[in-house]
Order: sequence, then C-alpha cells, then structure tokens
Amino acid sequence: MHGIVLAGGNGTRLYPSTLAVSKQLLPVFNKPMIYYPISTLMLAGIQDILLITKPNDTSHFFNLLGDGSEFGISLNYAVQAEPNGIPEAITIGRHFLGTNEAFLVLGDNIIFGTGLSNTLNIAKKKLVGSAIFTYDVKDPNRYGIAVENNSNEIVELMEKPQNPKSNLAITGHYMLANDSIGRVNELKKSSRGETEIIDLLGQYLQNGTLTHERLGRGFAWFDCGTHSSLLEASKFVETIEERQSNMIACLEEIALTKGWLT
Ligand code: G1P
Repeated sequence: MHGIVLAGGNGTRLYPSTLAVSKQLLPVFNKPMIYYPISTLMLAGIQDILLITKPNDTSHFFNLLGDGSEFGISLNYAVQAEPNGIPEAITIGRHFLGTNEAFLVLGDNIIFGTGLSNTLNIAKKKLVGSAIFTYDVKDPNRYGIAVENNSNEIVELMEKPQNPKSNLAITGHYMLANDSIGRVNELKKSSRGETEIIDLLGQYLQNGTLTHERLGRGFAWFDCGTHSSLLEASKFVETIEERQSNMIACLEEIALTKGWLT
C-alpha cells in the first residue's frame, strides 16, 4: 500500500492566513499541519508517499520535507492544478501507485488516539474495495456522513446533508483498492464543480466491499479547515504534549520506532 497526502485546495475559509501560505504549512501548535497526515501514513506502516500540492507550493513543501530520507520515508511530489475534488488525487497519483493499493489522506486531517496503528492495520488487512474511518460529531452537516443499520453496517452515504440521518462523519482517510484508478475516471462533477469522494465510496458500498472502522470516544479527530478548528487542534496537541512530555506526530520518533532510522 502506498500513501497519498492531498494538500491542495485554496483554504478560503482561512483567509487571509492562506493567501500567501498553503493551509497545510500553517502550524498546529509546534509543527506544520502536514506533519500530522504524514504521521498517520507512517503509523500505517507506509514509507512510499506522494504529496500533492498546488503548483506554486511544491518548493515550500520540499524545503520543509525534502525527499523524506530524514524521516526514513520516500517522498514524491505532484501538483493538483485546480481544486477538482478529492478523487483526482488518485488520477494524479496513478503512475506512483502502479499496482499498489492507496491510503489517501487529506492534508488537513489529524487523528490521535491509543491503538491508532492497530486500527489502521486492521483496516489494511481487511481491505477489498475501500476502508473508511468514522467518528461521532456534533455537526454532521459539515462532513460526509455514513448511515448504519442495526447491525452497524453502512447502508447509505451522504455529503454534507442539510438533514443528516446520522452523526457519524467520514474522516478524510480513505484506503482504496487499485481498481479505484479506473473508477475515478467515471465520476461526474457535483453541483459544486468537483468530483466527490462520496461517489467513489458509494460504488464500493454498492458492490459490498466498503468496510469501516469506527474511531471511538478515545480518539480525537480534527479537520483544520476553519480558524476555530485550527486553534482547537493546536490547543489539543499542546495539552497532550505539555502534560505527557511525549510528542504527537514526531516523524523522526515514528521512523525510529519502526526501525526506518537508526
Ligand atoms: C471532505 C469530504 C468529506 C469529509 C471531509 C473530512 O470535505 O468531502 O466527505 O468528511 O473532507 O475532512 P471538505 O473538507 O473537502 O469540504
């Protein structure tokens, strides 16, 4: 399985902070936001990672992360010219992926919790079509959501519904089989002018190969798309790090633990 971090988008909800700087380079407490999604991929045991940025941002990310060798990983770079939707990351990454499965992570999504590596590995082992991660939220209309039946099986997916049928948000972490490369080409643009990840996931739901891991109450999930959520994530990381003296998303530490660095 190869990793893709999608760090495109104009970050309009964070203007003026994102007018001159990519959203994913803004700090979340003591390190740039992009460290967090990269750490999630590393915790899933992934060392081959493609970072997709806006055209003018690549050099900034490269100045920060280089070829990844400092963190025991291999980082490749590609650009998304326009914010055409999340599924386009798979099209952009098709040569990088080759015949591998993909773990696509949105560059502004942070998850933290005990046993995260284990949860990611369970999803990876079970993967047939797609694996998603869900999380209870108070404001489901801001996200893609999953509706479950009484047996905790997903029966419906909705993107930012006005009248949500559940409060189970789909986080920005998508494990995808290699056939997703072909499937994304068939997707039609939605009314907001983008292809939607929910439509791709819907295909796997239809053919019975969509699995999901529910991130329980011991997890924290943030998408840092607004000033408030960015500050909330920073405060959370500060609280844990200052209390425990352990770091969250320390890429060198993860690499050392994995034996990827000496
Ligand atoms: C995207 C997805 C949505 C998902 C969210 C997670 O929304 O479309 O399904 O729940 O990421 O962060 P966006 O942030 O692009 O509006």
